[in-house]
Amino acid sequence: MFVCICNQVTDKQICRAVDEGASSLDDLSSALNLGTCCGKCKNCAKKVLREAIQDNAYAQVATAGFSPALSP
Ligand code: FES
Repeated sequence: MFVCICNQVTDKQICRAVDEGASSLDDLSSALNLGTCCGKCKNCAKKVLREAIQDNAYAQVATAGFSPALSP
């Protein structure tokens, strides 16, 4: 889905940017020009960014052989 219409940035591009180290809206703006026109996409982009960071954290934990569902 498109997150930033002005710059045609999709949620998949945001996830890819997170995989490559992006961790803030500023990082996404630098990498993808997200939010650099009208700015109306920033709230949605924050949500997608947060979810992508969380998914990466779970993936890293799963790769390490630890289940976050079993943690206290
Ligand atoms: Fe992202 Fe306008 S929708 S800058």
